[in-house]
Amino acid sequence: MNQVGLIWMNGEFVAHEDAKVHVLTHALHYGTGVFEGVRAYETPRGTAIFRHQDHIERLFRSAGMYMMEIPYTREEIRQATHEAIQRSGLKSCYIRPLVFRGAGPMGLYPLDCPVEVAIAVWEWGSYLGDEGKQHGVRARVSSWRRLPNDVVIPAAKATGQYLNSVLAKIEADKAGYEEAILLDDRGMVCEGSGENLFVVKDGVIATPGFSADILGGINRASAITIARDLGYTVVERDVARSELYLAEEVFLSGTAAELVPVREVDDHDLGEPGEITRVIQAKFEDALHGRAQEYAEWLDLVEQPSKVSG
Ligand SMILES: Cc1ncc(COP(=O)(O)O)c(C=O)c1O
Repeated sequence: MNQVGLIWMNGEFVAHEDAKVHVLTHALHYGTGVFEGVRAYETPRGTAIFRHQDHIERLFRSAGMYMMEIPYTREEIRQATHEAIQRSGLKSCYIRPLVFRGAGPMGLYPLDCPVEVAIAVWEWGSYLGDEGKQHGVRARVSSWRRLPNDVVIPAAKATGQYLNSVLAKIEADKAGYEEAILLDDRGMVCEGSGENLFVVKDGVIATPGFSADILGGINRASAITIARDLGYTVVERDVARSELYLAEEVFLSGTAAELVPVREVDDHDLGEPGEITRVIQAKFEDALHGRAQEYAEWLDLVEQPSKVSG
């Protein structure tokens, strides 16, 4: 991670090393934060943030579900993000907006603690590796179930909830796999530790729906749109664990990972990425990098740095 540059914190830019919080920050103790993972790419028209508005909407929805009122407008968050990218000089980057309960009265009741906001950008390559994007990753079904919607709010991207993903990720890594696949509390397939999941069988694409406690991935939505536009049938339905072994193709989607084929699940070999995954992945990459005219409205263009003052 790039240790230089500026981080936007509560309305102003501060040096990387000055972007600090108090040790009694509520979110540090109780996980009372929400966040986004967003990416900007270099496109023929300049740097563009992929589906920025959708990420901002989800940030506000996540905050709202945990009763956090963000003290900035959507447009202020958008502008601050643009400026963070401009000031970084990066042409493509990962963007991390974070909204959290700051230091205030200690105890579980959070509503009297201030709501703080930070936005950081940094250079970040493909989360599951370029090799994984090309040839697929090895995944394992986790012994940790995805936290269900009568325990937390899986549809919210909340910091505390990620202890669940962290446990699954550590377990998969220590066992020699690149990614974990979590089941929901019914034992149906939910998603990866940081990605949504798709299976292909008999040419039909299936992906778990909201009743499987998924996070509503923005790239999931993009992959569904692209697949349907390409003429494939996509159904949102429960997916049984055994379908992962019987599938012709399995792939994952997420901002950090992008669109990644899975070549092995629980040591069942699925082979090199199949044609449907390849075709959707190619179009998806075109959309991210501004090469697909039909998805141009997904791009939020960032003005050239030369136009920034100060
Ligand atoms: C648990 C989980 N599921 C799914 C996703 C994919 O969501 P998106 O495509 O919006 O990045 C993510 C990543 O944000 C995630 O952390």
